[in-house]
Amino acid sequence: MSKGGRRGRVLNALLCWSDLLRLPDRPLSFPLTIWVENTTACNLRCEMCYKSASTSVCPSNVHLPPEFMERLLPEAQSACFSLLLGYGEPILSPNFFPWLERLIGIGCTTTTSLNGLILTSERARKIVESGVAQVSFSLDATTAETYSQIRKGGDWDKVLTNIRQFMQLRAERGSPLPYPRLSFVMLRDNLHEIPGCADFAKSLGVEFIAVMDPVFYSQETAERFSFARGEGEEAIEELRKRCVQLGVFLDYYEDSPSIYFDSKGMPTCPGKTPPALRYQDDPSPLFCPMLYTTLFIRGDGKVAPCCYLYEKVVGDLTVSSITEIWRGDKLAQMRSAIRERNFPPGCRICQRLLLLRRREVMTKGRVFVHRTWQASRERRQTGYAAQVQASII
Ligand SMILES: C[S@@+](CC[C@H](N)C(=O)[O-])C[C@H]1O[C@@H](n2cnc3c(N)ncnc32)[C@H](O)[C@@H]1O
Ligand code: SF4
Ligand code: SF4
Repeated sequence: MSKGGRRGRVLNALLCWSDLLRLPDRPLSFPLTIWVENTTACNLRCEMCYKSASTSVCPSNVHLPPEFMERLLPEAQSACFSLLLGYGEPILSPNFFPWLERLIGIGCTTTTSLNGLILTSERARKIVESGVAQVSFSLDATTAETYSQIRKGGDWDKVLTNIRQFMQLRAERGSPLPYPRLSFVMLRDNLHEIPGCADFAKSLGVEFIAVMDPVFYSQETAERFSFARGEGEEAIEELRKRCVQLGVFLDYYEDSPSIYFDSKGMPTCPGKTPPALRYQDDPSPLFCPMLYTTLFIRGDGKVAPCCYLYEKVVGDLTVSSITEIWRGDKLAQMRSAIRERNFPPGCRICQRLLLLRRREVMTKGRVFVHRTWQASRERRQTGYAAQVQASII
């Protein structure tokens, strides 16, 4: 399916929904979200990032070449969303703006995430004028001290100056797009600052924050950054209250996979029992929504099932089309294995798995409907809205 335009996208979204209810090995729909890692180059070495992990196979300085656009975009016409980011600083690629323009041009609601350190005024202006839906600035801290512990190579004063400049340019343009967002990965080092994230964002004029449970890609990072679950929950509860008081929109991603298992075979973080274990006696099929909605294209043109299983290559766009990969044997085997509960190693401990047609799906569905409603209410009341992905992931 490669028909473009609004009708093509609506049809694709409906097909995707039917795939999610039937869980075929080879979906009828095309991916709703195309996730493009346009570069693996980065000016930082954040300690918790997959790029810094001893287990990482992420190449260090690869830009997805522009000729890929010509191959990819005709096939991507029925995708609704695109993410222009991966394990790198997207703007370091000379092809960042061409990619942005082309993805937006085919009608994809497009978002990106930046460390914000190399955002010159010229680049900020181009981003503000591009039509990109959301720009997330990753800070992981509200003070210089904590920032420097986590975001190695960063410069607190510089990043704040750049964000203020970006906000100023956006205000001058008078358009709600792009929605700015500040993001914080919860780690032992910054837990005490999580409740203050809303106040901090508000002081910069930003009214949308994302807080993520961490993914630990190695034993070292798990030991270095893990924290007690209860402490994390308390911090989030305090933050939620403050967000309500300040009118800040909070997106809390609590389903990050606990990728790393400790020697006793228990998830080290986020410390929640993953669905594969929680539902081991439940006869309903399990599935991963990512495998029916999203395709992750790495900077070297290879395709992974998601950003967490970077090394598990399920296709290569230098030799195959998206459709061939999406409906190909490797992804089909993964979908079937999860349904049959012969989980691939990373998936066994991933929080993203859902139980089909049971409370889990209902709960996630409700969360999604609630987030959509909250975003449209924000839009009506303040002219400001969060970009919400039209999938249940
Ligand atoms: C990998 S970065 C890539 C884009 C850009 N370089 C940035 O820092 O925003 C995308 C997001 O992943 C987050 N991230 C990095 N390591 C993480 C981890 N171990 N667990 C959860 N999120 C992580 C970053 O903080 C950032 O918000
Ligand atoms: S800036 Fe982004 S990609 Fe680079 S090391 Fe930090 S989190 Fe990873
Ligand atoms: S279940 Fe597996 S494929 Fe799905 S998001 Fe988790 S690790 Fe990725």
